[in-house]
Amino acid sequence: MFLHLLYDSFDFKSWIILFFLFLLLADIIKNRSPSNYPPGPWPLPFLGTVFTKMDFRSMNKLAKIYGNIFSLRVGSEKMIIVSGYKMVKEALVTQFDIFVERPHVPLFHKIFKGLGLKMSNGYWWRTHRKFGGLHLRLFGEEKKILENNIQQESVYLCDAFKAEKGPFNPMTILNSAVSNTIACLTFGQRFDYHDEYYQRILRLDNECFQIAGTCKAQLYNFCPWLLDYFPGPHQKLFSNYFQITDFLRGEIIKHKEDWDPLNPRDLIDSYLTEMEKKKSDPKAGFNVESLVVSCLDLIEAGTETSATTLRWGLLFMMKYPEIQKKVQAEIDKVIGQSRQPCVEDRADMPYTDAVIHEVQRLSDVLPMGFPKKSVKDTKLGEYFIPKGTSISANLSSVLHDPDEWETPDTFNPGHFLTENGQFRKRDAYLPFSAGKRACLGEQLARQVVFLFFASLLQRFTFSKGPGEELSLEGEIWFTYVPCPYRMCVTSR
Ligand code: HEM
Repeated sequence: MFLHLLYDSFDFKSWIILFFLFLLLADIIKNRSPSNYPPGPWPLPFLGTVFTKMDFRSMNKLAKIYGNIFSLRVGSEKMIIVSGYKMVKEALVTQFDIFVERPHVPLFHKIFKGLGLKMSNGYWWRTHRKFGGLHLRLFGEEKKILENNIQQESVYLCDAFKAEKGPFNPMTILNSAVSNTIACLTFGQRFDYHDEYYQRILRLDNECFQIAGTCKAQLYNFCPWLLDYFPGPHQKLFSNYFQITDFLRGEIIKHKEDWDPLNPRDLIDSYLTEMEKKKSDPKAGFNVESLVVSCLDLIEAGTETSATTLRWGLLFMMKYPEIQKKVQAEIDKVIGQSRQPCVEDRADMPYTDAVIHEVQRLSDVLPMGFPKKSVKDTKLGEYFIPKGTSISANLSSVLHDPDEWETPDTFNPGHFLTENGQFRKRDAYLPFSAGKRACLGEQLARQVVFLFFASLLQRFTFSKGPGEELSLEGEIWFTYVPCPYRMCVTSR
């Protein structure tokens, strides 16, 4: 009777308003934060904080308002941002068993599908991380294959720099050189810098990093089911990745043709052997699709990050020529001009080592790392974090933490030197992140960056192109990259 009266007294407009109020109430109840949940900007109904930029600069600003642990919400997806050395250490190192899984990020899930290593979870991730670590150790460190490859590649790199007539942008050459060191481990071969097909693959991958950092592409995470049917940067990202994975599939087919399980030449061969061994354990995830994604993981995670670090390194050397001279003096003293740098030299070159560390500290190459999620309810600082909440560590805020660094925003190799010029480690140096999901390729990256940097400064002096303004302000992609610059190289 009462419902009947209510029905009769409501017109169409009132029903719409009632329906909207019902949805609003459902949204509020669904997204209600538990008590003692970290504070954050006020979320809009249904949308949350979807209009908040997700780059590290915006996160630094929000941390100043809400503190070192604050919350955001994209649609219904809750996330926590942690800043500063103490809190990031608490999350990634002290609670290493809790923030260990990757959350579901639709923009990346479409490509990585939770396979491979970087975006996988649970047993699948553990078996792939173990396999990847073993492969890198075997081919990289024990057999010294990696060091020999980097040394060989640095000859090609220096020759390509020398062949440039006049000022040039080093990006393409550095990307090619770095990717070749990883290609040797993955495909057992390097690619010529003029190989058009491979260059196209590198360009596509470079674009992916650029697109993935834009707000427009990240909007896809808010409503993938709808945006799948609309054009936009996310479609370009997917198309690029599909072309890259096609290339990887081709390489795998070629490997299968002459694969000899007793003589693994590279990652693909070793993986094919692992697939045979793990046939009875499908949950370990060793299959062809996962191999494609694993190749993408290594190539992608390693090339853009290490090549960008080198680009920042050369930029800092041009900006601070007196520091460049001191690095060259150390190279001349320890290595000389008659042989190539090797990994063992690093221990005798504290100044160069300190300069490279300072380049990595100040350049913020992967400023927000990759997101993780909590596998159970926990407490972080004074706040309650429910199971399944995404968490991002603002690595940039650690590398610039005023409580940890004497001159946080100034290029100062002294951060990594003792009073008598010896190298000193710093706890807050976390460009490779920390904890169980820390970078798998740290040792490889350190070798690549050291050997290329030392080889380049052994052979050349770097200066800016005429009329070039060198800016230390970078561009925010998924990585943080220097603005394009042109440089001159002078043989020494
Ligand atoms: C200067 C170069 C590099 C930097 C700054 C860097 C930095 C990072 C960071 C910050 C993470 C995220 C860790 C986290 O989630 O907490 C990561 C993950 C990863 N990196 Fe690197 N990286 C570099 C080079 C490399 C190289 C050369 C490789 C391999 C060839 C590599 C392979 C990986 C992999 C596989 C992961 C995912 C690990 C996992 O989920 O278990 N990285 N890296």
